Amino acid sequence: MQRFAVLLTFALALSSAGQGHAQSSSPAPAAPELPKSYFPGLGEFMGRIEVDHAKLWLAGEARNWDLATYQLGELKEVFADVQDLLPRYQNIPVGEMIDAIMTGTITDLEGSIATHDFSKFSTSFDKLTEACNSCHQAANRPYIAIRRPAQSNFSNQDFSPRK
Ligand code: HEC
Repeated sequence: MQRFAVLLTFALALSSAGQGHAQSSSPAPAAPELPKSYFPGLGEFMGRIEVDHAKLWLAGEARNWDLATYQLGELKEVFADVQDLLPRYQNIPVGEMIDAIMTGTITDLEGSIATHDFSKFSTSFDKLTEACNSCHQAANRPYIAIRRPAQSNFSNQDFSPRK
């Protein structure tokens, strides 16, 4: 969390320093402004998780196991970021809930991907989706209902396995 905030502050400081240089002919501002840092909320992480969830299905459906491995890795990374950065969100113990709900289903999915077993993959994927929804229900967000994607929303990406 700290490292993230420090990096962000550093990046913002650099970009405002750059601006100052570009406008070097204009008079310097009276007092230096403190850089503002942006901190994403849980909804922003979830938006990324939604994309990873959809792409994971599309990759598995296309039997693109390399892509499925990658996509599940991305999904895990975002959940790990949530655990590091937002372990509690509006009094919801999100970090602990991720351990309790997600870890087992993710392990099952990894097994199905490693063995290229589509039928096991689809069962585990549906369990993952149920886990998403059980957390939404527990977190008073029952109206956020996740399901298997019916089609690709990513017409610029080819999900078929590379030769
Ligand atoms: C640990 C609990 C938890 C788990 C597990 C979880 N979510 Fe969420 N999700 C939330 C909460 C809480 C919110 C509401 C965030 C807010 O209020 O800003 C949310 C919001 C969302 C949203 C709405 C974001 C938006 O702005 O459109 C989507 C989509 C979403 N989750 C997808 C998923 C998917 C897909 C999974 C499973 C792969 C998942 N979530 C797993 C707790 C969880």
